Amino acid sequence: MTNRTDFLVIGSGIAGLTFAVKTAERFPNRKVTIITKADEDESNTKYAQGGVAAVWNFDDDSFDKHVADTLDAGDGLCNLEVVEAVVKEGPQRIREIIEWGAQFDKNDSGEYHLGKEGGHTANRILHFKDATGKEIERALINHAHTLPNIEIYTHHYVIDIITQHHLGGAITRVTPGITCYGVYVLNLETNRTEKILSCITMMATGGAGQVYKSTTNPRIATGDGIAMMYRAKGRVMDMEFIQFHPTSLYNPGESPSFLISEAVRGDGAILRLANGEEFMHDYDPRGSLAPRDIVARAIDNEMKKAGVDHLYLDCTHMDKAAFIHHFPNIYEKCASIGIHTEQDMIPVVPAAHYTCGGILVDMNGQSSINNLYACGECSATGLHGANRLASNSLLEAMVYAHRIFEDAAKRIDSCHFEERIPDWDAAGTSEPQELVLITQSRKELQEIMSNYVGIVRSDVRLERALVRLNLLHKETEELYEKTILSPQLCELRNMITIGYLITKSSAIRKESRGLHFTTDYPEKKAWAEDTVL
Ligand code: FAD
Ligand code: SIN
Repeated sequence: MTNRTDFLVIGSGIAGLTFAVKTAERFPNRKVTIITKADEDESNTKYAQGGVAAVWNFDDDSFDKHVADTLDAGDGLCNLEVVEAVVKEGPQRIREIIEWGAQFDKNDSGEYHLGKEGGHTANRILHFKDATGKEIERALINHAHTLPNIEIYTHHYVIDIITQHHLGGAITRVTPGITCYGVYVLNLETNRTEKILSCITMMATGGAGQVYKSTTNPRIATGDGIAMMYRAKGRVMDMEFIQFHPTSLYNPGESPSFLISEAVRGDGAILRLANGEEFMHDYDPRGSLAPRDIVARAIDNEMKKAGVDHLYLDCTHMDKAAFIHHFPNIYEKCASIGIHTEQDMIPVVPAAHYTCGGILVDMNGQSSINNLYACGECSATGLHGANRLASNSLLEAMVYAHRIFEDAAKRIDSCHFEERIPDWDAAGTSEPQELVLITQSRKELQEIMSNYVGIVRSDVRLERALVRLNLLHKETEELYEKTILSPQLCELRNMITIGYLITKSSAIRKESRGLHFTTDYPEKKAWAEDTVL
């Protein structure tokens, strides 16, 4: 494979593909390389259901309302400038993706059908049935395939960012001018580790839901980009804010958990206890459509009070034909396990869903490492604050992919390749003897995170988690030093780093805000600060 590229994109979800397409179109004579560790469409993007939030109907909605809803969900920690930029630039980015072939549902009069989700005060969710992400991913991949200067390497696993560290420099988190020169990549077909030199690199590796036992995120979501960034001594922010989606389908043994979109509640579904009682109004006047942190915590509390492992989402009063029209996949999935939504309540339970924090970036998506941008779920722009508003994620990825593209376009002519980078050194390593060491540690990590660093936290749980994580870290580093690399080992290493970052950031935050709730500090402080590590 080539070892030199102008633009290197790590990840083929909405963030990576949007940037790649724009860059390849603007610079037809420059090479754009996308590296992705699984099939080209495998990503969190592909599973997005509800849709993309954007102000579309100015009679009933306004930028100010979308900004206010985003700030309200973010619980005092959003960056206002970022929120305003994303909300205002969003509609134009959506028009572009429509031009590239993405479809969104329309109503009978030919207008886009706008759904509603928790925390939104207006109908503003553009969607394609209940499979919006799959449609967006399809359109982006098709468009990327038409551009001859984009090359996509599937089943290639990026191990680490190359910086001065690989030239023998001593680097700490406060070293000025850390620069990215490319990456080391494990080719999963040949099992060889290759180096790729790049002028501009964009991290678009998505979230980290897999660090929890129960998650809506597919297997690829192991937080690799955030962990690589931290290892390279870059800055990460707000990792304590892990969003638990209130309504994943309770179906023991299924992993990842199947999502029951919040749009179902937007269309009128109601959360209920086993005895049929509606309980959300005891927690928030918005009831089942309150922001996710409030709903997930309320469900967790009711489950603990009743000693049960799920509650219910009631759709039985909803029009069956309309339900099937908007949510064909959810209807079919439920039916496949014997739940007929017109007569049965859906058993639901919260599951880890979205990583609000990540690689700290500025308003152009530039990280704290030179020539390295980050976009999408792996980044922390300041949009989401302490809790992401539903369907703001796909929007953020599109807006920031464009901003990064504009910024990188200005810089590309002054970039150069660093020629002195050594090849990957595998000396002293041998084939792994016992894969169980890796698989068992992954399970242990998920247990630790779910039991001690979940929806409700406390000092004692966080302390215990840190002790356990340190042990896992030590054992895994020893294995890493002497074992030939495998994606399983690299992912484990990254997931332990992510576990550490979430737990450490949680321990630093001595208050309850947004998605971070601790029984030791149940109140919110008067001032809001980001946690930067
Ligand atoms: P991803 O789409 O996750 O892409 C990451 C890419 O990086 C993948 O291609 C992966 O293979 C690659 N990668 C990762 N690590 C490596 C590595 N080491 N080497 C090489 N490649 C690597 N958001 C909304 O706004 N609206 C919704 O309706 C919505 N619904 C959702 C439903 C579900 C079930 C889930 C899981 C998420 C949902 N979200 C939704 C969130 C949203 O889908 C994601 O935040 C968004 O798609 C992330 O896009 P991304 O491009 O940043 O990352
Ligand atoms: C959903 O459809 O409920 C997911 C929306 C999101 O995560 O933004």
